[in-house]
Amino acid sequence: MELEMDTFVIEGGRRLAGRLRVHGSKNASLPLMAAALMCDDPVVLRDVPDLADIRNMLRLLAELGCHKTNEGGPKDVMCLHAADRSNSHARYEIVRTMRAGVCVLGPLLARRGYCRVSMPGGCAIGDRPIDLHLHGMRALGAHVSMESGDIIVKSPVGGLKGATIFLGGPFGSTVLGTANVMCAATVAKGRTIIESAACEPEIVDLASLLTKMGAKITGAGSPRITIDGVSQLGASGGGSIDHTVMPDRIEAGTFMMAAAITNGDLVLDNCPTDALLSTIDRLNAIGVEVEPIEILRPAGWVADPLRQAVRVTSGRVIKPVEVTTQPHPGFPTDLQAQLMALLTLADGNSVITERIFPERFLHVAELARMGAKIFRQGPTVIVSGVRQLKGAPVMASDLRASACLVLAGLAAEGTTIVNRVYHLDRGYEKMEEHLCGVGAKITRVSEKEVGE
Ligand code: EPZ
Repeated sequence: MELEMDTFVIEGGRRLAGRLRVHGSKNASLPLMAAALMCDDPVVLRDVPDLADIRNMLRLLAELGCHKTNEGGPKDVMCLHAADRSNSHARYEIVRTMRAGVCVLGPLLARRGYCRVSMPGGCAIGDRPIDLHLHGMRALGAHVSMESGDIIVKSPVGGLKGATIFLGGPFGSTVLGTANVMCAATVAKGRTIIESAACEPEIVDLASLLTKMGAKITGAGSPRITIDGVSQLGASGGGSIDHTVMPDRIEAGTFMMAAAITNGDLVLDNCPTDALLSTIDRLNAIGVEVEPIEILRPAGWVADPLRQAVRVTSGRVIKPVEVTTQPHPGFPTDLQAQLMALLTLADGNSVITERIFPERFLHVAELARMGAKIFRQGPTVIVSGVRQLKGAPVMASDLRASACLVLAGLAAEGTTIVNRVYHLDRGYEKMEEHLCGVGAKITRVSEKEVGE
């Protein structure tokens, strides 16, 4: 698959003001899509973002016999139907470009009792082992072996059996590991307890879909999830399972920081405020206000703390802060790079410690090219605020580092060129169009144009 080496050309110094809607969450959508493999009834997912990773997951699911059946329908609605179970091999060619493809492991084992999934390999933000995923599968009685870089997992004769599983690792919990084990446990005989489960809101969203399929799950969102196995999953009384994806808390946090770094004034719709409390805590300490606002809602609307409208404004001075990334509900590692961009302009020294992916600092050297003063010591960086960033050509290396460089470009004096924005397209839907709609000046230049 040829990657488009598109580039963003950003004219900095423009204040963002206006209104943006937060899309459905990429990191919720991927395991939700994989869960469609777990039943024979159609699964309808709504508010699915239109992203490269989502399109890759559709390709993977199609190879596994689960097809999108509403082609030509609304782009943000996806009807998935796993009609063909003849192929259960998630190939290296797809999993290596999108590590999250590993989240088909639990669903395939649950429905088919067998799967072959490529080991994901590493990526720009560090090693991405799946030892905890496999520890969970073995605990449920599965047989795990390796062959030519693939993991082969088979259910025992008589099927998976519930177990008490400690899923904590050196970095706390594992999000997709919890998703995989929770999926497999829904049809394991007896009770499964996942101790030190990931508490991320995306796990709660997945548990909500599985419950609609008839799974018996309590404790999702807490460090202890209890699953009582059922014989089979499906839509009650035939028909289809219908689920709306939760809003993307990382996109929402990124937009909040875009408002802050341009001293702007943004209203965000469909904002999962309740999933962003640690982020809002740090933004408040920096001097950024995030206030829920009342907007006209359709009749019968039920207030939802994961779907609020908020107004984001900031004082002229960006105050320095300390932040350490943690598993949820701590400050999310996926917003670390974006916060760093904001703190390069703080009035003093900030301290950022990365506890989840200690190598997740590829954006530091690029920010330095724009005049940022950042000193790294292992998993910790000291960011000495400067008065102004200067536009420069910079290189995106991974999804969230790309977002960091766009934010820096919005605030920098002059022109910033962000190369390789295909990284950004993996996790942000038409970011340049949305930001231009609220005052930014960003032009997407495709490689072909650059070449001409
Ligand atoms: C999810 O990845 C997210 N991806 C990541 O977002 C996010 O950064 C990460 O959780 C942490 O919050 C999706 O949800 C699709 P982990 P995941 O397993 O589940 C170690 C983005 O930018 N670990 O929670 O793969 C691992 O090395 C992406 O949207 C093991 O040691 O992450 C890491 O240090 C990037 N053994 C830590 O745990 C394992 O078996 C957390 O990883 C699994 C993980």
